[in-house]
Formats: sequence, C-alpha cells, structure tokens
Amino acid sequence: MIDISQVRADTPGCHDLVHFNNAGSSLPTRQSVDAQIEYLRAESRLGGYETKDAYSSQIEDTYQAVAELIGANRSEIALTSNATESLELAVASLWLGEGDRILVAESEYASNVIYYLHLAKMSGVVVEAIPNDDDGQTDAAALASMIDESVKLVSISHMPTNGGLINPAAAIGSVTRDAGIPYMLDACQTVGQLDIDVETIGCDMLAATGRKYLRGPRGTGILYVRQTFRDQVEPPFLDLHGAEWDALESYTPDPTARAFETWEFPYSAVVGLGVATRYALDVGLPNIEHRVIELAAQLRSQLSAVDGVTVRDLGANRGGIVTFTQDGTDSSELSQRLHGAGYNTSYTTPISTLRDAVNRNLSDMVRASVHYFNTTEEIDRVVAAVAAE
Ligand SMILES: Cc1ncc(COP(=O)(O)O)c(C=O)c1O
Repeated sequence: MIDISQVRADTPGCHDLVHFNNAGSSLPTRQSVDAQIEYLRAESRLGGYETKDAYSSQIEDTYQAVAELIGANRSEIALTSNATESLELAVASLWLGEGDRILVAESEYASNVIYYLHLAKMSGVVVEAIPNDDDGQTDAAALASMIDESVKLVSISHMPTNGGLINPAAAIGSVTRDAGIPYMLDACQTVGQLDIDVETIGCDMLAATGRKYLRGPRGTGILYVRQTFRDQVEPPFLDLHGAEWDALESYTPDPTARAFETWEFPYSAVVGLGVATRYALDVGLPNIEHRVIELAAQLRSQLSAVDGVTVRDLGANRGGIVTFTQDGTDSSELSQRLHGAGYNTSYTTPISTLRDAVNRNLSDMVRASVHYFNTTEEIDRVVAAVAAE
C-alpha cells in the first residue's frame, strides 16, 4: 500500500496543480530536487572534480538503483541524456547494413523510426512494421512469422507515447530469444511505472528516460545492455571514459555498458536520478504499477461516460497514459484550457506515432497521464472540467 499523503507531501508540485502530464515529464520529489541542489552547492564550494570524488559512492549508487529497478546488474547500465540517445547508441553498436531488416511496432515512437529511416538511407537497412493483433498490441505470432535470417533487430515501444497500450514485451522477447535476434525495448514510458524485469522480458537492450514516470531530472537517460550481448557489439563512439588507450596504436573498450558513455556528466542530475530511483524502489514498483493502472482505468471509465468524449487507448492491458478526443473540440485547445484551469495534460499529434495515426485515422488527442501520487478526487475534478466544456 502506498502512503498517499506522504508521497504527496514529498511532491511539492501537486499542491498547486493537478499534474496529469507524467508521460511528458512528471513532478519530481523534493528529495531528488534537494539532492541536486545540495550537489550543485557542493560543486560551487569544492570544485567540480573534487565534488565528484566526494560523491563517488552516491554516483555509483545511481547505477545500482537503476539496475535494481529493472532486474539488471550494475555493469549492464549506462547513463545518457535521454531515451533517444540510449536507443540510438545501442542500435548503432549493431553496425547494421544493406538488406538488414529492422522490425518495429505499429505504434513506434517518431524519433526511433526517424533514426531507422536514416539508417535505411545511409546504410540500406529495411524498416518494417509488425502487425497488431485484434487488441491493437504488437502481435508476437505475426512477429514470429516475419523472422528470417535478414532480421537483425526487433525494436518495440513497451508503451507508446500516444496511449496506455502495454505491449506484450515478454511474448516478443520469447520470439527474439528463440530466433537469436537482438531486441531493443523502448521502455521510456514504462520504467518507473511498471514492475519491469529485463530477464523476464528477455530484451538485450532497453532505453529509458529519467524525467517521465521515474520522476527524475530532465536531461537524464538510461541504457541497459545485457552483458552477454555487450560482448557481441562495438559501441559507435568511444573516448577515454569508455575505453583505455593502452598502447600507441591500440585501445581497449570498457567491457561493460559504460563503453556507451562519454567522460563528462551533469553529476548533480546523476545523483538526482539515483535519489528518484531509490524513491520509486521504496514506494515499490508492484504498488506503483497497481495504482497507476487502477487510476487510469477510473479516468478512462469516467471520461467515456461524458457525452461526446471518446477514449482512444488500445490494448488488452493498459497503463497510465489516457488519450481521448471530444467531439467538436480541438484537442490542443482543450488541453490548453485545462492547463489554464490548473490541470496539466498534454496533447499528442499524429506525427509522434505516424504509422498508428494513419492506420487509425487519428487526429490530435488530449493525453492525460496519471501517476501514483494522483488521486481519485483529482480525476473527478478533471473529468468534470472536460464535461463542462
Ligand atoms: C515511447 C517513447 N519513446 C521515446 C521517447 C523519447 O524520450 P526522450 O525524449 O527521453 O529521448 C518518448 C518521449 O516522449 C516516448 O514517449
């Protein structure tokens, strides 16, 4: 059970507004913010390099906490600036070429697809979408039927940016494992929201971000690379942090995921990410997942009861992102009006998940994404505000 009054007391932002934009950037805890401010103050007193030395155990604990969060080992974690960077670094390490096929979800995020189309243009890879099943989720059986030796990557968003759909990540992992094909899971929307275990899922790489459901600082990202997979890939960029220049004509890359990092970091943010991750672990990921799913289901059900409102989320299993439209109302304007009334939502446009938008003939949708610190009373209020439109 989550102590809601405690987590709300730890979340200064939720006293002044109703935050349903956790899929954009969630409200950080005061603990994470305080840790960052304290770190910056230490830097101004001690010097940047000296502060890093003084905080080395906290910095290392960020890797440990992130590893615990997803069921990995510390050596399998690299820190980056965002989920896109994590995904692109890891996929670039596959050095894909002419005729190599990349299979993606129908609802894949625009940045991922843009990068894969760029690889198609620059290196001749082929990008194809895996069909959805009747529930609108990536169909693991259809994936299995697409596999042949030209498939060199399966890349799926665990939860798309435009709806609460939870893709069957473990069923997909079972197909990729059987076929021995690299599997990238974009868990940008699910890390910090769902109880994720990379062993159960069977992904080789996972990309996530700090600022969304993990409630960490902006400008932080997470990359998981399975150790047995790390042994088979070569990172695209290296420096003296990710490798050692051990003889005049040779170098040795770091054998762990840290080979994907470069030397310089915003260490205040790294520490803040660690504190945010420890906070999530303390609240308990099973508790968080349970509450987020419950609150989102309540929001969907109440919105569906409002005249003219259509909830647009797909999936047999659905999480914290709720997307909807209201007849005769422009979604971006509705989201802005809600913002004016103290309710943070956002809106998604077709270009964020173009293939899904084209398939479903979607236009802009309001996106209201709940987190565990939200309350049923906040849901009542935002639904009433939508109904009053
Ligand atoms: C599903 C999904 N993947 C990737 C991203 C990109 O994350 P970042 O901005 O941290 O690179 C987003 C951002 O909204 C997302 O929703």
